[in-house]
This record gives sequence, structure tokens and C-alpha cells, in this order.
Amino acid sequence: MLVVYASKTGNVARFVERLPVRRLWIRSGEERVEEPCVLVTYTTGFGQVPAEVERFARENWAWVEGVAASGNRNWGANFAKAADTLASRYGWPVLLKFELSGTEKDRERFLEALQRLSP
Ligand SMILES: Cc1cc2nc3c(=O)[nH]c(=O)nc-3n(C[C@H](O)[C@H](O)[C@H](O)COP(=O)(O)O)c2cc1C
Repeated sequence: MLVVYASKTGNVARFVERLPVRRLWIRSGEERVEEPCVLVTYTTGFGQVPAEVERFARENWAWVEGVAASGNRNWGANFAKAADTLASRYGWPVLLKFELSGTEKDRERFLEALQRLSP
């Protein structure tokens, strides 16, 4: 399945680019998809969803089948909160929360989640 992602400082990009998947980088939020996809985002100031992801989600939410977020555990309760915010707004399942560019184990768990969505 297509993976769409947003990355400001490169962590999410590194996570996604190590996966054997088709991918689309959300840069402005004006990108459009017309096929099922999953969204991977970073979390920004105090648990926020990045603005370009907000824009993308508003227009493409119906194609999105799940969300994952990167964050940093130093942010405590706001850790990777962008995933929770989007999940509760659009009814998407949270596939994964991971730190920075993730670990090998995170990538395995993410691929397993993709597999469950489209076996
Ligand atoms: C200004 C700023 C605010 C951040 N706020 C949060 C936050 O609220 N929660 C969190 O888990 N991580 C937060 N982070 C950490 C980033 O989400 C994390 O470093 C992520 O891996 C960045 O992904 P990217 O390199 O793909 O942009 C913040 C980072 C910055 C620079």
C-alpha cells in the first residue's frame, strides 16, 4: 500500500525510505491521492499535527486507512500525539508511534500493520 509521509528534519523520511513500499512525501499539503494509503507524520510543538499534514488530511482523509507518528519521548504525554489527534478526528487506526527515525523493530511492526490492512 502507498505510504504518504511528512518530515521536517528527516527522521520520518529515513523511516519510510528504508521500507519496501511505494511512497509520497507530503511537502505542501496540496498533494492528492486516489488510492488507499497510510499516513506517517512527525509531531510538532506541544503535540500538534504539522500544518501540511492538516491540509493533506482535510482533502484526502477518505483514502487513508491508518496513521503512524514519530515523536520523542522527552515530550511525555505529547509523545507522537499527532497520531492520536488524527486518529480521533478521522477514525483511522493508530498503526505505530515511534521515536525519531525508528528502529528495525519499529519498521517490522509497521510492515506487519500494513500487511493486516491489505493482506
Ligand atoms: C519544535 C518541535 C516540537 C516538537 N514537538 C513534539 C511533540 O509535541 N511530541 C513529540 O513526540 N515530539 C515532538 N517533537 C519531536 C519530533 O516529532 C521528532 O523529532 C520527529 O522525529 C521529527 O520528525 P522529522 O525529522 O521527520 O521532521 C518536536 C520537535 C520539534 C523540533
